[in-house]
Amino acid sequence: RLRIKAAILGFGTVGSSVARILGDLKPEGVELVSIFNRDVERKRVDWVPSQVRWTSDVKEILASDVDVVIELVGGLEPAGTWVREALTAGKSVITANKKLIAQDGVALDRLARSKGASLLYGAAVAGGIPVIPGLNQGLAGEKVERIEGILNGTCNFILSKMEQGAEFAPVLAEAQALGYAEADPTEDVAGYDARAKLVILSRIALRADLAIEEIDCRPITPVAAIDFDYAKDLGCTIRQISRAELRNGKVLATVAPMLVPKGSPLAWSRGTENMVLAGGKYGGDVVFSGHGAGGHPTAVAVVSDLLAIAHGSRAVDLPSQKTPVSADFLLRHYIR
Ligand code: HSE
Repeated sequence: RLRIKAAILGFGTVGSSVARILGDLKPEGVELVSIFNRDVERKRVDWVPSQVRWTSDVKEILASDVDVVIELVGGLEPAGTWVREALTAGKSVITANKKLIAQDGVALDRLARSKGASLLYGAAVAGGIPVIPGLNQGLAGEKVERIEGILNGTCNFILSKMEQGAEFAPVLAEAQALGYAEADPTEDVAGYDARAKLVILSRIALRADLAIEEIDCRPITPVAAIDFDYAKDLGCTIRQISRAELRNGKVLATVAPMLVPKGSPLAWSRGTENMVLAGGKYGGDVVFSGHGAGGHPTAVAVVSDLLAIAHGSRAVDLPSQKTPVSADFLLRHYIR
């Protein structure tokens, strides 16, 4: 197996979770060699192995012999320039940057291919849920005609708490404190974050390259407590839904707060849960669900991408010996 040297750009909620998980899993063939952050002294922590180099000079990393750059800075610039420079230098890039991938993903993918590098962004959509690898590999043999779901954890956190009687403003503040919301939470509540993710999913699932600003996008802010009562009378709840569907060579696409029937899996989502439903022509609907925001869930997607680069398609080793089985009273009780 190859030995891959990786660097993290941006040591915030997700970056520190990536370092934690790498420290915990100690995956074979992968080495974290450097961490960039603008104000590195403020971020430095003692639990990161001492051989990891901390720097506030991104050029140092881009000019080094690092194989994989993990971009977790976010936003179009300067992150976009750094990603381009890394790919141009033949380095592979892993990113959680949905804005950048929504806007420039096709060109960046072309650049990566021309350099023999990989560009992976499983963390850009739905955090820890393997939607992108699921669509790219698991559903490569399907013709997906519709993609719909809950793509913003912050909005889902807010709406599912409002459903229980909470007020908008304090719940948004809580989502910010927990590290779910974007730096500017307007991105979440206005639907821009979900819209960028919908563009990325449409590209992969529907093979349609949509212009971000052409997608109809409505904020969740007008939703009031009383609306949940009306929704309830109709047997529904309210969720921010993102939806794209192929229709006669066009794509119908929208992001908006919508009535969701209580019987729909989309109504079961609580908190930062994200859910993506891919409607296939041959195999029918497939539902992906799990935590779509927060450090650890998003970091799982980043580390999985890293292992895919380091180990190829068989990222996980099979056990080398039998494991003893033990019957457990609680487990038997539970299943009964
Ligand atoms: N602010 C985003 C959300 C983070 O709430 O879903 C994950 O992309």
